[in-house]
Amino acid sequence: MSEPQQLLSPYERGRLSLANRVVLAPMTRARAGSEMTANELMARYYEQRAGAGMLITEGTFPSRMGVGWLHAPGIFTDEMAAGWEPTIEAVHRHGTPIFMQLWHTGRASHSDFLDGELPLAPSAVRHEGKGIPTPKSDGEEKAHETPRALTIDEIPVVIEEFKTAAKRAKDVGFDGVEIHGANGYLIDTFLQSRTNKRDDAYGGSIEARFRFLKEIVEAMLTVWPSQQVGVRISPNGAFNDMGSPDFREQFSYVAERLDDYDLGYLHVLSGLAFGFHELGEPMEMHEFRRVFKGTLMANCGFDRESAEKLIAAGGTDLVSFGRPFISNPDLVARFANDWPLADEAPQDTWYSFDAEGYTDWPTYEEEQRAAKT
Ligand SMILES: Cc1cc2nc3c(=O)[nH]c(=O)nc-3n(C[C@H](O)[C@H](O)[C@H](O)COP(=O)(O)O)c2cc1C
Repeated sequence: MSEPQQLLSPYERGRLSLANRVVLAPMTRARAGSEMTANELMARYYEQRAGAGMLITEGTFPSRMGVGWLHAPGIFTDEMAAGWEPTIEAVHRHGTPIFMQLWHTGRASHSDFLDGELPLAPSAVRHEGKGIPTPKSDGEEKAHETPRALTIDEIPVVIEEFKTAAKRAKDVGFDGVEIHGANGYLIDTFLQSRTNKRDDAYGGSIEARFRFLKEIVEAMLTVWPSQQVGVRISPNGAFNDMGSPDFREQFSYVAERLDDYDLGYLHVLSGLAFGFHELGEPMEMHEFRRVFKGTLMANCGFDRESAEKLIAAGGTDLVSFGRPFISNPDLVARFANDWPLADEAPQDTWYSFDAEGYTDWPTYEEEQRAAKT
């Protein structure tokens, strides 16, 4: 008898009705062009991965000041929203739900993306890590700038932008939205003491640092049923120059408070394969299980075996896969049939800044057919 295959068994809870527990993690693929509008190429990419129980889109900008990655999509105009229609239709043909990830890049952006304005942040604390290519850098990485701290009067405006974006996502037919509260982007920089030095209602204590995310969640709930809203956090992450000494207290509090809202899920980058700040023992999924009673989604560095193990141990309900899904569009079929996985996609294929330069990975069956001819 083989081990029970929980990863591939259906998952039903609240409004989530998933054919299996494998989720496509949100991944920026930079295929939306300089007009930041989702297109047929992206519809094909998502449809290829519709064997997952559920898909989460790549980070999508809710506002002009949220922009911060070349050729990533937005949803702050009606045209941008309409660009997502082919993707939603293609994925729904397979009966798979798709959530849109809302991504305000905050201090990880650059003025080159923002008509010369400085990126926005809770406080003027500069990202000292790796720079990014910008629309004016000709492929070179530019260092980050010291961001501008949002004034207290500007914060409701940013929240309103999230709300408008969430409305557009709903009108165009997404099944829900995921709030990107991870990886050192705007919301995460509000949550963490490393980057939030405010002494007003939005900083200075664990509770106050949570306020920005709390208000965004509440704004989402004026648009969406709570079960169609997810939140993503990265308590252990060092990506984008993050990591705070009080991470455990902060993120335990965040999870506990988020539990009050009966959300669709809490998505936690618990694994360390995307960078670890080493400021203490990493937070594990069971710590979140203790305080968050709803659906948990774990991520980062999982393979089939470790995903099965964590589900069987009760540490998570769902597992999202990022990099394995790039070179294995049919990841679920490969798991189900014990087919070998393709090698991990090299980093220079992750982002395709020109429309011709993208890599389309074959399914296992396509690969076999091609080998025979
Ligand atoms: C090419 C690439 C793009 C990514 N873009 C996003 C993104 O837009 N939003 C996000 O929350 N995480 C993003 N991530 C992080 C992934 O969602 C995931 O957390 C990370 O790859 C670790 O999971 P894995 O080990 O299964 O790949 C990205 C990762 C990669 C490799």
